[in-house]
Amino acid sequence: MSDSIGRREFVRSTLAGATGVALGMSGCDREPQDLSTRPGYTRRAAEQTGPVREISLVAAPGEVEIAPRGVYRKWLYNGQFPGPEIRLKEGERLRVRIENRLPEGTTIHWHGVPVPNAMDGVPGVTQELIRPNETFVYDFIADPAGSYVYHTHAGLQIDRGLIAPLIVEEKKPHVDYDREYTLILDDFLSGEPQPLSRSGGGMGGMMGLQVPPYAGLLINGRLPESPAVFETRRGQRVRLRLLNPSGATTYRVAIAGHQMTVAYADGRPVEPRTIDSLYIGMGERYDVIVEANNPGAWTITAATVEGNSPPAQAALLYKDAAQSRPPSGAAPEGLQGGRTLELSDLKALGTTDIGAPDRIFDLTLSGGMMNPAWTINGQAYPKADPLEIYEGERIRARMINRSMMIHPMHLHGHFFRVGDALKDTVIVPPHMGRVTFDFLADNPGDWFFHCHNIYHMESGMARIVRYK
Ligand code: C2O
Ligand code: CU
Repeated sequence: MSDSIGRREFVRSTLAGATGVALGMSGCDREPQDLSTRPGYTRRAAEQTGPVREISLVAAPGEVEIAPRGVYRKWLYNGQFPGPEIRLKEGERLRVRIENRLPEGTTIHWHGVPVPNAMDGVPGVTQELIRPNETFVYDFIADPAGSYVYHTHAGLQIDRGLIAPLIVEEKKPHVDYDREYTLILDDFLSGEPQPLSRSGGGMGGMMGLQVPPYAGLLINGRLPESPAVFETRRGQRVRLRLLNPSGATTYRVAIAGHQMTVAYADGRPVEPRTIDSLYIGMGERYDVIVEANNPGAWTITAATVEGNSPPAQAALLYKDAAQSRPPSGAAPEGLQGGRTLELSDLKALGTTDIGAPDRIFDLTLSGGMMNPAWTINGQAYPKADPLEIYEGERIRARMINRSMMIHPMHLHGHFFRVGDALKDTVIVPPHMGRVTFDFLADNPGDWFFHCHNIYHMESGMARIVRYK
């Protein structure tokens, strides 16, 4: 297909004044494209895969201690909260047998991994719910390397605790480091998750912000009073994998006494960029390198952007430090000022240009205030049209956020190009924020595309991207 201006103008003019889903051209004038030239990521051929890793998970209710607050009944993978980290090497094949001992149906989604469609874990879209006392086997190649999460994709179950890290180690990292830690940023509900639409009143409701009644914010399942401690020693380079599988919290993260060098965005390697703080939305992941050059005990803080829970905290502790805990109440300077990571700072290693789009969707994100639904172009999923595409097309999505809340928009099954980065989840800022992403349609199936705030997703802010 040619990339002539005329063609693009045609696409644009069909969109002018369009409401609902804007469709570009019909499929008949396409040419097949060489999908092996996809920038930044090429799907591994079956013969290139490594050994098979067999994992068994049981999803069941259980009790966890959230110190010092008490013991709570949550829904857990293998009795753990957060769930057990699955860690494997690039190219290994993962076979996970999940047994459902919950009182309702569930699924697992391998967030960010471009799995074959049938392994994607979206109930009613790629599989039926795994019913109580049933089992299901997920089987896919762990590729490419990166920091991912796995989580339930049924209803509001994420806020019951069914979240966990999935780490795929690369053979040759583009940055050096001496040790690494995984940090799971989460929000903690002491009761059962409920849809927010009916409770949307009060001041928060008037501001257009609907935030669940969280009892606190956690790093690795721990409240600030009893923080996770990450040890280091002077001169080390520490890789922190920051993962946000929370239900409804965008965090701003900073470390007292230290800068962070962002080296991966949503698992994809980027040119290292040193900053003082970063925002991380639900579904996003950032890997940062911290140079341990300032001995002591320091706070790692993750402060909510939209709610009013006190920040989640962990500790970066140097061996031989005089104190064993950071002084309480010490907020990192990076939350006050300094340099905050911006989308335009992210540059994927290698080229990401996929050329001019063949098909463009204009997507308006709305909701909040008096409106119980969260919508894309006025439609609330499941009463919403699929976004129809053809294999081999280059797709562009232009999003605008006409609401007062942050929407971290996540596309299943693909990485997209946003600015110069490759990501799978991107924050669309409130108050008319605009974000455009492009992707190559190289993984056929029905793919969920949605806001990763689970309350927004469940109230309609979702679509299916459908290969015709
Ligand atoms: Cu973690 Cu449909 O997403
Ligand atoms: Cu949202």
